Amino acid sequence: MITNFRGRDLISDLDFTKEEVETVLELAWDLKMKRALGQPHAYLRDKVLAMLFFFSSTRTRGSFEAGMAQLGGHAAFIESRTTQISHGDTEKEMGEIFGRYFDGIAIRHCDWGVGNRYLNLVAEASRAPILNMQCDIYHPFQILADLMTIIEKKGRDLRRKKMVVSWAYAASYAKPMSVPQSLVLQMPRFGLDVVLAHPPEFKLMPEVMERARAEAKAAGVGFEVVHDMDEAFKDADIVYAKSWGCMEHTTDAEEITRITNQYESWITDDRRMALAKEDAIYMHPLPADRDIEVTSSVIDGRHSVVFDEAENRLHAQKAVMALTMS
Ligand code: CP
Repeated sequence: MITNFRGRDLISDLDFTKEEVETVLELAWDLKMKRALGQPHAYLRDKVLAMLFFFSSTRTRGSFEAGMAQLGGHAAFIESRTTQISHGDTEKEMGEIFGRYFDGIAIRHCDWGVGNRYLNLVAEASRAPILNMQCDIYHPFQILADLMTIIEKKGRDLRRKKMVVSWAYAASYAKPMSVPQSLVLQMPRFGLDVVLAHPPEFKLMPEVMERARAEAKAAGVGFEVVHDMDEAFKDADIVYAKSWGCMEHTTDAEEITRITNQYESWITDDRRMALAKEDAIYMHPLPADRDIEVTSSVIDGRHSVVFDEAENRLHAQKAVMALTMS
C-alpha cells in the first residue's frame, strides 16, 4: 500500500497513481464504516481547509465542509467575490498567503481556459496542498466517489464491464466538460471498457483524449467513441450520461445554444435504459436537468445510484484530506 501523500496536490485525476487511488479508496471505506458506527476519527484536529469558490455548489461545499468537521478540523467557506481577488490579489499572492494561513486550499474554478491554470499557479506558490474541487478540465473528487460507488455496486474486478460516458441534452447552461474528461482518464486504469458517446460537436479536449487512449491501451481495455446514444447504451453495465458544453467546437454563446438545441433527443429515458444490461446502474454527478437530461422515472428508478454516488463524495474527500493534510 502506497501512503506517501502528505503535502501533495490533487489537481488532475492522474496526479495519483492507480495504487495511490486504491489507498484512497481503502481509507474512504474505513472512514465510511467509522461514520456508520459513530466512531470518532479526528485525524485533522486543529487543521483548517480554505474552500475558495468561483462557482456555485451544493454537494462539493457540503461534503468538504462536513468532512473537515468530522475529521476534527474546520473548513472556511470563501466566495471569491467577497475577496480582494477582483481588486488585484494574484494567484501567487493567494498561494503564498493562504498557504501560510491554511493547511490545505481547495478551489473550484470552472471558467473555460482559466480555471485549471488558476489552480496550478496557486499551487506553485503555496506551501499547503491544493485540492481541485472542479476546474474547467478535471473534477477528480467526483470521479473518486464515482469509482468507489461502481466498485460497491459491481465488485472489485471491473474487467470486461462496459461503462458508457454519454453526453445528454440540457437547456440550463453550458456545463464544464470536467466530469467526462476525468471519467475517461481514471476509469480505464480500473479495468472498465469505456464507450464515450456524444454528438460530433461535443468533443473532449484532444490532449485528454490522447492520454485516455494511452491509459486504456496500457490497461489492456477497450476505449471507443460513438456518436449515437442508443448504440452506446447497448449491453452497458454502467450508464453515466450528463450534459457538457461544446467549448472545444466554439465559445460563442449563441452558437453553443443553437448547436445544443439540435440534440434534444439525447435524454436518458426508460427505453434507452432497457438497451443496457438488466442490472445496469445509472449515474449522474448532479445537479441534473430533470425530464430534459434524464427522465424522473430513470433518476428515481431502480437503476439509479445517484444518492450513494453523492454520499461517497464525503468519504472519498475525507480520505484525501486526511492523507494530504495530516
Ligand atoms: N457533483 C457536484 O460537483 O455537485 P455540486 O456542483 O453541487 O458541488
